[in-house]
Amino acid sequence: MKHLYLVLSALLIACFLCACASGGDKETVQNTTAVQEADKTSENTADKGGKTLVAYFSATGNTKAVAEKIGETTGADIFEIVPAVPYTEADLNYGDDNSRATAEQNDDSARPEISGAIENMEEYDTVFIGYPIWWGQAPKIMYTFMESYDFNGKTVIPFCTSGSSPIGSSAENMQSLTTGANWLEGQRFSGGAGEDEINEWIDSLGVSFAE
Ligand SMILES: Cc1cc2nc3c(=O)[nH]c(=O)nc-3n(C[C@H](O)[C@H](O)[C@H](O)COP(=O)(O)O)c2cc1C
Repeated sequence: MKHLYLVLSALLIACFLCACASGGDKETVQNTTAVQEADKTSENTADKGGKTLVAYFSATGNTKAVAEKIGETTGADIFEIVPAVPYTEADLNYGDDNSRATAEQNDDSARPEISGAIENMEEYDTVFIGYPIWWGQAPKIMYTFMESYDFNGKTVIPFCTSGSSPIGSSAENMQSLTTGANWLEGQRFSGGAGEDEINEWIDSLGVSFAE
């Protein structure tokens, strides 16, 4: 009788150990599935293994400073959108209704020419687009830029600097010039935006950047 009791006890312990082991296996499988799904999500956003570009226009240096900090943090290549005809101080006078900048912003068809071009645009999966706010919108030279390249399949991340205006509808208006691009929400910075603020924004994008 004592013998039978020992055998039954051993069987019960064995069953208990089996149940624990199979429970552990299940948890491992669930974890693996979660990791694979997270990987899939990042494939669907910007991390396709391609390169990152920061393309920007800056008339007085504020947007340039932000663009360069983004470049340092992400390891992106940088392209400055340089006007074929440089803007003079008088051109940028927003107090003058007839200044070049004001006239261009009031002209739907204005497409100021760009000096130079990006030869290898197809290599970039992610493109930051930087510009100053002019009369609440992106300068028209940004429209020239957006219409010069095929953004289909790329992730586009707009950012701007301004005196006080928000990014407003400026990014949406450029988005309407592209097809098939994945536009992320844009960000406005003040002229003197610091590295911490810029890096915090980059982190919040949830994008990993391939150099
Ligand atoms: C023609 C012109 C229009 C501007 N319009 C606005 C505006 O509507 N709202 C605003 O907050 N700042 C405006 N600004 C200020 C610029 O957005 C701001 O100084 C910006 O940081 C300049 O960037 P940059 O140095 O890269 O050119 C304007 C500046 C210029 C030259």
